Amino acid sequence: MGGRTLGATWTVRDILNWTRTYFKEAGIVQPRLEAEILLAHTLSVDRLHLYLSPDRPLTPEERARFREIVKKRKQGTPLQYLVGEVQFLGLRFRLRPGALIPRPETEEMVMRALRLLPRDQDTACLDLGTGSGVIGICLAKYLPRVMITAVDTSTEALEIAQENADLNQVSDRITFLESDWFERVEGVFDLIVSNPPYVAREELSHLPSEVRNHEPRVALDGGKGGVEAISRIAGGVREHMRRGGTLLLEIGDGQGQPVSEMLERVGLVDVRVERDLSEKERFVIARCP
Ligand SMILES: C[S@@+](CC[C@H](N)C(=O)[O-])C[C@H]1O[C@@H](n2cnc3c(N)ncnc32)[C@H](O)[C@@H]1O
Repeated sequence: MGGRTLGATWTVRDILNWTRTYFKEAGIVQPRLEAEILLAHTLSVDRLHLYLSPDRPLTPEERARFREIVKKRKQGTPLQYLVGEVQFLGLRFRLRPGALIPRPETEEMVMRALRLLPRDQDTACLDLGTGSGVIGICLAKYLPRVMITAVDTSTEALEIAQENADLNQVSDRITFLESDWFERVEGVFDLIVSNPPYVAREELSHLPSEVRNHEPRVALDGGKGGVEAISRIAGGVREHMRRGGTLLLEIGDGQGQPVSEMLERVGLVDVRVERDLSEKERFVIARCP
């Protein structure tokens, strides 16, 4: 925040204007919005407050904290990790670099999952690779009688997911389990849902640096062709799915055919691929006969 004499007063308006220009020059796509979000976070107020008090001066301590956060953003730390929070299907979730930043496509998947389970019956659902917990927690929040088992191999992700279950008051209906996919899973489920790592290992180096350098590799790396994790999941579904139960997977564009074939090989039926709002192949749904 150069260009001004030390000790000059910086107001909310000054800081936002300065940061917008700085972010724009750094190639950040929504510079004004991000500046507002980060300043509101630093001052522990909501964004509206910034509009209501544009002349509010910042203390030197607030300026120093904001400067640090702006620096990290310019260096590529994703906004969601800096503010430590995201909204997903209308709920709040805490977030740290130990868990993937939830994507809008996954909101689309959860909306499909909500249509697959009845609201008025006891059901059991398995969320494989729960990360920050968004899928399982939304299902528990919006389906009052579902019991969730949420699995991850990452201890750090499971800690974040547990915090999020507490935050959204659904801990009594979610069991968190540290497991390599099905290894420690017991029982059968009406719905198995997963957003597994599905980026082809050969493509990892082409991901934007914000993703590649900041999000957990274990959440992205789908092995050769991006379908190794899915293949492991396919290998265990029959044993853990109730007859007539459903498998719902998020996949990468172009994986529809290999994944469908994989699921048919293990005996699942009515396998279909659906597209997301950007018209990309994104979901596979299959049924246990
Ligand atoms: C793409 S992220 C999805 C996270 C979250 N469900 C979401 O949609 O935002 C994949 C998750 O699978 C987990 N994972 C990777 N390998 C695993 C394994 N062998 N067993 C269980 N979970 C695994 C990762 O730790 C990560 O949290």
